[in-house]
Amino acid sequence: MERMYPLVSEKLPHFFHGGDYNPEQWPAEVRDADMRLMKLAHWNLATVGVFSWVSLQPAPDQWDFDWLDAVMDNLAEGGMFACLATPTAAPPAWLSHQHPASLRTDAQGRRHRHGNRVNYCPNAVAYREACAEIAGRLAERYKEHPALALWHVSNEYGGVCYCETCAGEFRRWLEAKYGSLDELNERWYTRFWSHTFTDWSQIEPPLQHGESMPALRLDYRRFNSDSLLGCYLNEARILREVTPGVPVTTNMMGAHPDMDYHTWAPHVDVVAWDSYPSVRSAPEQISFYHDLMRGLKRDRPFLLMEQTPSSQNWQAVNALKRPGQMRLWSYQAVAHGSDSVMYFQWRRGRGGHEKLHGAVVAHAGHENTRVFQEVAELGEELEKLGDAVLGSATQAKIAVIFDWQSWWTLDATSGPVRDKQYVQTLIKHYAALRERNIMVDVVSPETALEGYSAVVAPMLYMVRTEWAEKVTEFVRGGGRFVATAMTGWVDETDLAYLGGYPGALRQVLGVWVEEIDALFEDQANQIRMKQPFGPCRGEYKCGRLCELLHAEQAGVLGTYGADFYAGWPVVTENRLGEGFAYYIGTDPEQEFLVHFYRTICADCGIFPPMEGGEGIEVTLRSQKDRSFIFVLNHRDEVSFVDLGDRHYCDLLTGRTHTANVPVRGFDVRILEEVEPTPDQDAPQEKPAE
Ligand code: GLA
Ligand code: ZN
Repeated sequence: MERMYPLVSEKLPHFFHGGDYNPEQWPAEVRDADMRLMKLAHWNLATVGVFSWVSLQPAPDQWDFDWLDAVMDNLAEGGMFACLATPTAAPPAWLSHQHPASLRTDAQGRRHRHGNRVNYCPNAVAYREACAEIAGRLAERYKEHPALALWHVSNEYGGVCYCETCAGEFRRWLEAKYGSLDELNERWYTRFWSHTFTDWSQIEPPLQHGESMPALRLDYRRFNSDSLLGCYLNEARILREVTPGVPVTTNMMGAHPDMDYHTWAPHVDVVAWDSYPSVRSAPEQISFYHDLMRGLKRDRPFLLMEQTPSSQNWQAVNALKRPGQMRLWSYQAVAHGSDSVMYFQWRRGRGGHEKLHGAVVAHAGHENTRVFQEVAELGEELEKLGDAVLGSATQAKIAVIFDWQSWWTLDATSGPVRDKQYVQTLIKHYAALRERNIMVDVVSPETALEGYSAVVAPMLYMVRTEWAEKVTEFVRGGGRFVATAMTGWVDETDLAYLGGYPGALRQVLGVWVEEIDALFEDQANQIRMKQPFGPCRGEYKCGRLCELLHAEQAGVLGTYGADFYAGWPVVTENRLGEGFAYYIGTDPEQEFLVHFYRTICADCGIFPPMEGGEGIEVTLRSQKDRSFIFVLNHRDEVSFVDLGDRHYCDLLTGRTHTANVPVRGFDVRILEEVEPTPDQDAPQEKPAE
């Protein structure tokens, strides 16, 4: 077999199966029991060291690595590996007390007291120095250790600091960006409310009781994301220097508002992320984040670094994953490009905030629990699955553009509605495609568009001129491009485009937007299709945002049904060169999007990897010479998938199938096409129900 991409770690040519392990919270006998239980659970990778700072460095000049030495040795002896974490997400009390300025200051300007976690100022020199020291010591100590497979830098970077140190760094960051105060004043439009700055020292972070101009808030988010990235790099650089062959990552959090992960992605060797859906999350909501995270690095799989084996403890209602659901969602991550299934946490702690968070080992302390058994069975199954899927690609012909910059700018903007619903809007469009199991990449605007047949950019509020040029070329060359309400209103520093929205995209879309109406929740308008656009025909509801737009070169596909702008264009199509650009000037009901994208996909010749019954999700992962179709049944009752007259082997059962194949409730099949063989007539599996 020819793998599409290399393995994450040559040391561990298996699905990573493991997760957060906190031996520092337990006495030696429990740690011994852990080793036996981990074998039973078919774990091969334990994330150790996260939050263990005070156990490694009880005082500024005191170090204790003995316990970690023993844990690393035990893992190696047991044939397991370590995803070794630097403990820097939770600085010890002595550090905070010695360096109060290393603590975070909130938006009210209050310096926090010591406590909780991720409570450091990302620009505090004392914090950065202490991090560098402990990262360096860990790297030196374990660089040759056979268990070391992966570095896990800190934990879930996030949050914002507004302290004096950050203010100073912010000014330096701005100076480097704008060069002069004049330029900054121009780009920030500071004559408004007489906000012109005459000295760099006048610029402050956007404290709640202070300056709040949108352009400043936007730059502060960029700066803060860069500051947190600086913390990551501070450690990653050292780890890379000492252990050049060991991959370095940190656990990300999906569509998190504090970091523009697109700027982080080049600095991690593999994207790793923590997935915590609610049991009520729709399958497309869950997979959207997997695809967003995979899209950070398009040329390799990602890692599911954390998920709960049963329940969370921090949601309002922490329902248990139903029997089979943890396995289903684990395979969903794999189906969308993960080469790992990992959990938070190995063992429930006796105290602290997370003692009621789901864990592989319950407070009962043994293996005879539902959750342990499900984890162990999944681990065994992943082992049997072998390495065929590892390093395979998840290829899509359609890209949805996700842009932290537009999201931040929309959020910093007053009007036309307070809650812009940027992420929800993206998920609506994505779900309309996934509903039919169309493979989708969720990528940054910087992504090269070659290779895609269609590009969807919902609410891309901030459009850079070069991006508009790239899209124009894409459409001219035969691509389909879809944009929606509130696209192309501002430039990179939040200055509105003059001459009509969608600014730089006006020519490619062939429309200009004159006004935008905001609708209350109990109000709606309609999209009336002038002629059928494939299955998109008749009338659909729309609401929230209704743009009053003029079709210039574009043809009108649909018009508003009501209000004083009844009859105005709302859905348009512009032919440009070999391609088409579409504009949807409102927030339509889901059914409209489902129908609309059916036509777009049909026009581009994009089809799902396979057709299935209700509740069935399908994805495709491919090696150079092998392809795997993942079939997941998200309903708790039997459904089916249609194999037509082809024959497929289910890698999980070893059986061959053809035609309509049942998939039990919450069950998964991984199918690979095979030549029909005599045993094709062997009795088919019967669904349990
Ligand atoms: C995050 C953290 C973990 C733990 C879990 C609980 O993902 O990284 O340390 O707190 O949440 O769900
Ligand atoms: Zn700070």
